[in-house]
Amino acid sequence: MKRDHRHETILILDFGSQYTQLIARKIREIGVFSEIQPYNIPIENLEDKNIKGIVLSGGPSSVYEKNAPKISLSVIQAGKPVLGICYGLQLLMYIFKGEVSPARKREYGMANLNLVKKSTLFADLPVESTVWMSHADKVNKLPLQFESIAITKNSNYAAVQHNEQAIYGLQFHPEVNHTQYGVQILKNFCYKICNCQGDWSSGSFIDETIKRIKKQVKDKRVICALSGGVDSSVVAVLLDKAIRKQLQCIFVDTGLLRLNEAATVEKIFRDHFKINLLCLDKKNVYLNALKGVSDPEKKRKIIGNLFIDIFEKEAKKSGKFDFLAQGTLYPDVIESISIKGPSATIKSHHNVGGLPEVLPFRLIEPLKELFKDEVRNVGNELGLPPEIIQRHPFPGPGLAVRILGEITEERVNTLQLADDIYIAELLKNDLYDSIWQAFAVLLPVQTVGVMGDERTYENALVLRAVTSTDGMTADWYPIPHNILSVISNRIINEVKGINRVVYDISSKPPSTIEWE
Ligand code: XMP
Repeated sequence: MKRDHRHETILILDFGSQYTQLIARKIREIGVFSEIQPYNIPIENLEDKNIKGIVLSGGPSSVYEKNAPKISLSVIQAGKPVLGICYGLQLLMYIFKGEVSPARKREYGMANLNLVKKSTLFADLPVESTVWMSHADKVNKLPLQFESIAITKNSNYAAVQHNEQAIYGLQFHPEVNHTQYGVQILKNFCYKICNCQGDWSSGSFIDETIKRIKKQVKDKRVICALSGGVDSSVVAVLLDKAIRKQLQCIFVDTGLLRLNEAATVEKIFRDHFKINLLCLDKKNVYLNALKGVSDPEKKRKIIGNLFIDIFEKEAKKSGKFDFLAQGTLYPDVIESISIKGPSATIKSHHNVGGLPEVLPFRLIEPLKELFKDEVRNVGNELGLPPEIIQRHPFPGPGLAVRILGEITEERVNTLQLADDIYIAELLKNDLYDSIWQAFAVLLPVQTVGVMGDERTYENALVLRAVTSTDGMTADWYPIPHNILSVISNRIINEVKGINRVVYDISSKPPSTIEWE
């Protein structure tokens, strides 16, 4: 394992739990950098003094199973504090020769935790609190070196500690919000047990990254595709702060963006931040290329290829560039090293045009250590406005995959207006930030209606709103009926060409978030 990280670090060894990333985010939120590695990563330099402690994550396996993931003893023998969570606890028990058995029934949900022994891990916790359980196997006999420090109704070993070494195990999940004092437990582990000082913040990230970019780029030039989304916006402002005129941002108005989006991007980045920004109006190029095309994958290909063409041409016109800046985030990095393998094939089409493979630039990826919420904090600190920072994700092919069937200028205009009303009402009713993604979809379906004395035969529009943490799974969001009613009335009255509005109540899986 090669590390060049200069911050105090809690190393999280991943056994495949759905909560592993959450552990990392929670630890960072309390001011300590955390890094996820697969459980079986060869660990040669655990003595690195920046590694302050090790967390063993949960996971779906059972310790006695054939091929159950195990860690090498060197992890324990390195002398760093260890915290095992769920499967991590069971693994510790197995390593120290305790007994783990399949639980008679799976325990899932809230449980009452009772502290039974003084422990630094539980400093400042009341004797009783609620915790979140999600496990099948459980410990039924402790190894000699361990003692129980907390119990629940179903378990005498809900939390355990080693008699001499700083090794702890929790059957419950401190990283989940339902665990009442979860944050305090993680704080105790990081600050009181691992002796971290807390040197991770968005402010320190900005200063260090600007220095690092300057050192890397020297007097060379960097090109950056600005989409107006959170990630590329934060990358652009960070680079601008570091190298100013050596940065060239390019924004392509495909005509498939949300209402007034291009104007907003120009206003914020060119007028306010004074970034070296080239805005290219390519609406007609895109409309022409998409004429007569209904197949979603064809649309995606045309849009992706056009983007690369335009970007490449403009890059050539603007002189020589050595670097391409990209908004790659930490989850993309972990995904490629995850023990679950490439579960996320869906993501392959999600990066703007897949630029790095085809262009002769070196990459700068200043956000590749950050989670999305950290990028938002950095953006906030850099002075980016909330309309950029809090904005819902938007697909690269834009409205093209929200206009089912053929794309025409008229249909783009219709969808932009309807979508804008929808989003404005969500903002007005304070719902926008509780939703991962909300948007309207224009169907290639006409329905009969009446307006005044007239019979109409016009378009049907879908409203979609989902909650999600990463776009891989999603639940439809229950917008209150009275608000849906206002949105529907406004759209039908104000947007010419729409006479019916329906609400999408499908979750992912089996439905995807986008309709195409
Ligand atoms: P689906 O529809 O696959 O979407 O459930 C998951 C997330 O990905 C976004 N998405 C895309 N993003 N190019 C992108 O950049 C695409 O072709 C694309 N298709 C879907 C979608 O908006 C959601 O956030």
